[in-house]
Amino acid sequence: MKNRTLRNTVVFIIALGVVVALAVLLGTFRSSSVASQADQPLSPEQMQALIPRGRELALAGDCFGCHSQAQGPMGAGGLSIPTPFGTIFSTNITPDKQYGIGNYTRADYHRVMRDGIAPGNRNLYPAMPFVFSHITTPDDIDALYAYNMSIPAMPVPNKANTGVFVLPVRPFMNFWTLLNFPDRKAPHNEQRSAAWNRGAYLVEGLAHCGSCHSPRNFMMGLEFSRALQGGEIDGVAVPNITAPSLAKRGYDVPSLSAYLATGVSPQGTSFDAMYTVTHFSTSAMNAEDVNAIAVYLLTDASGKLTTPSAPPAPLPQAVSPESGTPLATGRLAYMASCAGCHGLNGEGIPNVSPAMKGNAALAMENPQTLIKVILNGVPTQIFKNGQRMYAMPPFAHRMSDAEVADIVSWIRAEWGGQGTPVTASQVSAQETAVK
Ligand code: HEC
Ligand code: HEC
Ligand code: HEC
Repeated sequence: MKNRTLRNTVVFIIALGVVVALAVLLGTFRSSSVASQADQPLSPEQMQALIPRGRELALAGDCFGCHSQAQGPMGAGGLSIPTPFGTIFSTNITPDKQYGIGNYTRADYHRVMRDGIAPGNRNLYPAMPFVFSHITTPDDIDALYAYNMSIPAMPVPNKANTGVFVLPVRPFMNFWTLLNFPDRKAPHNEQRSAAWNRGAYLVEGLAHCGSCHSPRNFMMGLEFSRALQGGEIDGVAVPNITAPSLAKRGYDVPSLSAYLATGVSPQGTSFDAMYTVTHFSTSAMNAEDVNAIAVYLLTDASGKLTTPSAPPAPLPQAVSPESGTPLATGRLAYMASCAGCHGLNGEGIPNVSPAMKGNAALAMENPQTLIKVILNGVPTQIFKNGQRMYAMPPFAHRMSDAEVADIVSWIRAEWGGQGTPVTASQVSAQETAVK
């Protein structure tokens, strides 16, 4: 008798589990967050009037940076986004009726931006940052729609995804979204300035800064409770950009705005994944929006703008290292291989190569980014306002791991205020990732 009750209970629990799993798979929990007003089409006059505003928002969202290939037609898609499970390609979002989104209604567009679901109940992968665009206001989505529909239609077919994404896995995204797609609202605080509120709306929404600067869980979902506290791309640390951390590395509103608007600031230049952000997105945005982003990022929890720290003083062990020690060899190697471009005193050369003194890349607690730059170098990058930098050569094949480690240890202690030495094995771990 007892056994039977137990068995029935087990059967019941399994059945319940199956029903819940099916319900999730069928998307039962994914109600639409699109207001019914979006069912009414916009008039051509309304669309026309919204274009300039939509363009600015599209720049903030880097929509066409991600939906275009480097030399490809605007919005025609095809940019590859590697993931641990295969490659996803961005899609054609020009108004082409056959290959693009020419048949999208206003409501279809809202559904993609707010819920990440394309027409035909196609769950989009989170490579499309709908987790962020979700907080965009309906009026702004209308503006994006108007601008998006105004660009030239390009008859370019979409590329086929690879890896697990060739399988019919889209329904399974419903499990992912159930656990990783909170119904966030745009941050709003009456007590704070219009600039802060605008910055919050952009950073936490369309500009999706957290997609690289926030930590992720094992499902690759974002940890919003630790937003902007530092993320990871391909095993390399992405800096913490919360107010205390930025202030510690010397940023204030003018220098952070300059960094975003031009890619160059006293704290260094943007490189790697951040170069694409400053190049395609923030340097093209209007000055008020860039300023708003800087104000928001540099405001601490109590609502005050943080005071920037002065560049760290050289640590005693870096100033006069005993000969033969790693710091002494690092100092010599810097003088031999780096000082020609970055200066004997780390002062850099204006418009040629950035200063090491006060450089934020040296002040990061985690040395990975710094090691990676030295191993890979930086290809020639073009910055706004004629601030041309040249290429930085890669050192992976010119120096031993120990030499790179010594240089990193010394420059961090000399200009970054970081005293923890870096070991050759930390460099070789990074080198494996490079090759
Ligand atoms: C980091 C890259 C990235 C950014 C930034 C991005 N997207 Fe996407 N988007 C994608 C990818 C990848 C897909 C395809 C996802 C899939 O196949 O599930 C996509 C899909 C879409 C779709 C659905 C197209 C279809 O297949 O029907 C639309 C519409 C869209 N994006 C518009 C935008 C707009 C507007 C912005 C700016 C606010 C934007 N995207 C920003 C990567 C991006
Ligand atoms: C031929 C000149 C040259 C040499 C030699 C050189 N660099 Fe660079 N380095 C540059 C340039 C130019 C940049 C900026 C590139 C950009 O952002 O477009 C750069 C960027 C950097 C950065 C990233 C910081 C930032 O703000 O962009 C670090 C760190 C760095 N170099 C360290 C070193 C070290 C250490 C060495 C010696 C092992 C070295 N460099 C040798 C030219 C050089
Ligand atoms: C595609 C990934 C990606 C996105 C999106 C991104 N960043 Fe970055 N960011 C990086 C990486 C990688 C670095 C480190 C390299 C460097 O310093 O240039 C960085 C560096 C920075 C730095 C320099 C910090 C320091 O102290 O060295 C700032 C400031 C910054 N990002 C702000 C932003 C803001 C604001 C946004 C949103 C508008 C944003 N980032 C979006 C990847 C990204």
